[in-house]
Amino acid sequence: MNNTINKFVTPEIIFGTGSIKQTGDACLRLGAKKVIIVSDPGVAEAGWLTEVIKACETSGLDYITYSELTTNPKDFEVAQGSEVYLREECDSVIGVGGGSTLDVAKSIAILASNGGNISDYEGVDKISKPLPPMVMAATTAGSGSEVSQFSVIVDTKRKKKMTIISKTLIPDIAIVDPQTLATKSPSLTASTGMDVLTHSIEAYVSAAATPLTDVQAKNALSLVAEYLRPSVASRSNEAAKTAMAMASLQSGLAFSNAILGAAHAISHAIGGKLPMAHGEINSILLPHVMDFNFIAKPQKFKEIAGLMGVDTRTLSVKEAACGAVKLVREIAADIGTPMTLSDIGFQKDYIPDICAAALADACMITNPRDTTYWDIEKLLHDAL
Ligand SMILES: [Fe+2]
Repeated sequence: MNNTINKFVTPEIIFGTGSIKQTGDACLRLGAKKVIIVSDPGVAEAGWLTEVIKACETSGLDYITYSELTTNPKDFEVAQGSEVYLREECDSVIGVGGGSTLDVAKSIAILASNGGNISDYEGVDKISKPLPPMVMAATTAGSGSEVSQFSVIVDTKRKKKMTIISKTLIPDIAIVDPQTLATKSPSLTASTGMDVLTHSIEAYVSAAATPLTDVQAKNALSLVAEYLRPSVASRSNEAAKTAMAMASLQSGLAFSNAILGAAHAISHAIGGKLPMAHGEINSILLPHVMDFNFIAKPQKFKEIAGLMGVDTRTLSVKEAACGAVKLVREIAADIGTPMTLSDIGFQKDYIPDICAAALADACMITNPRDTTYWDIEKLLHDAL
């Protein structure tokens, strides 16, 4: 262990079954009087929006809801939400939902306090004014947005996902209630779970990883390897849901502080073109990016294999790393996420645009291996 200076930022975290009922009190403790509750139709249908509204009423908070969101977080939804926030004279934000919804909620907070268009804040540290108090309740084990300094929003004109990174985006309070995972479909559980796996691995080998982020990434990785399959298999497996909620939280803490890598940079670029689940795109790319990144941190890739349950005692570093890649593919096959880019409608003529957008994505900065346009082009061809 070296003696370089490490910094690790985290919100207050409330974890456990029933914790979603604390959303109102959590917001009240931050001094809120009128809150915008940002949600989406799926979360509303599952009953979690009602649960948060009840919590706000119990706490005596005034509120307005904004929940007309689509599947991927879009720039015009952020603009509409911030208009609601300002018109209704809100002073705080609650997000309840998966990563897309929480990213919209956090981005509404940006525009409410900083003005302008959400594209003005693309990149690293572009937000100058403090954000209003934010409480984020996660309902999918996937994004880690409830603890992260990230927001990823689709620029609908440029057809690309913008990555916004700023410490001001770290919510004040994160609420993670495993019982919310019981209402997810098996396919959503599978795709968001593969996102958790990608966060764990990319954060662990990131150029910005530290001992503080490694602890979180390693634990998350072991949990995903053991519990993702059973979590997809059964809505009522409480042990698996709790483990996946913890894995999501810990991988979120890891990647919020260590950032990510090429899989996410390329995934964001593809996600701007194809309306596919973020986790499904990551799931396809991850084994190829692991192969590419192996020479940057061979020992860490061997450790990844061990953490995922591969017996590495008699294996060389290379053999163990190959075992980890094989295991990632096996998990994806077992839970039914797509295996190739062709499976999700990707076409060869997208490649030049995707390579350019991926190179410019903020997540590429911390990829452990230097990456060129031609590297990405080869990787995309391999993943077709
Ligand atoms: Fe992700």
